[in-house]
Amino acid sequence: MDEVSVRSPATVSNVVCGFDCLGFALEEPFDEMTVRKINDREVRIINRDNYGLPTDPTKNVAGVALQALMDAAQIDHGFEVEITKHIKPGSGIGSSSASSCGAVVAANRLLGDRFSKLELVDFAMAGEMLASGTRHADNVAPSIYGGFTLVRSVDPLDIVEIDFPALFATVIHPQIEIKTAEARAILPKDVPLKDAVKNWSNLGALVAALSSGDYDLMARSMVDLIVEPARKSLIPKFDEVKNISLAAGAIGGGISGSGPSMFMLSQTPETAEAVKTVMHNVYSQTDIDFNIYVSRIHREGVRFV
Ligand code: HSE
Repeated sequence: MDEVSVRSPATVSNVVCGFDCLGFALEEPFDEMTVRKINDREVRIINRDNYGLPTDPTKNVAGVALQALMDAAQIDHGFEVEITKHIKPGSGIGSSSASSCGAVVAANRLLGDRFSKLELVDFAMAGEMLASGTRHADNVAPSIYGGFTLVRSVDPLDIVEIDFPALFATVIHPQIEIKTAEARAILPKDVPLKDAVKNWSNLGALVAALSSGDYDLMARSMVDLIVEPARKSLIPKFDEVKNISLAAGAIGGGISGSGPSMFMLSQTPETAEAVKTVMHNVYSQTDIDFNIYVSRIHREGVRFV
């Protein structure tokens, strides 16, 4: 086997009270990637979209993730990666992570699945480091494992897969740019203990609610007193979108990643579509272009095609 094609899913990270640790994979949108072996011991990038991302492998997230894998594998050949991105860079739904994860999962298949999922997350984090300046795994973990994942620790890497009941995500992506590094720079450096207690209580309850399928507990625990208040002013109409989505029946939601996307979770596809309608109504009153996706939670992560 000399060539493998994959679909690499978008992901929602920072699930409300789960900043930098709780994330989930979406079925749509996804990037399409083909990785093939080449004789030269190097990484070649071919972009098949119009985003103008770097083809220099040291400046491309898929390139640095693949280099991390090649360094660990000590192989005498290289890889060529062809990327067709459908997840817009800077959207807040794990665009860089989709590129890094798709590349390392496909290359690993070409190496006979030599590396574990945990090792692949570690390689893909090199891409996150390039994109945002930090080695966080809350997008790459669900992209590789699928479903909901909790990153208990980055060093050493420790990832917990979390069971979940039927859930449908509605994600609105306003076409404005928020750089992750800038969205991190505005976060508080210190947190009052009483807010920290509320956040970790909510995160514990949210994980329990996901595992047991308790939608009411899920709704009560999707509250964030630390990151959302600091970042929401970056996103036009954040409160309006959130409040109207809850009124339409959503369980809860918030900022996806570092924004500008916002997500809401619903129990049924009908409610998720109703949330799409009210989000559409709010953003139609602005002069900002936007996309809205309704998607199941993707149980698989990167998949082979
Ligand atoms: N946890 C990250 C952040 C996700 O919010 O900065 C964005 O890449």
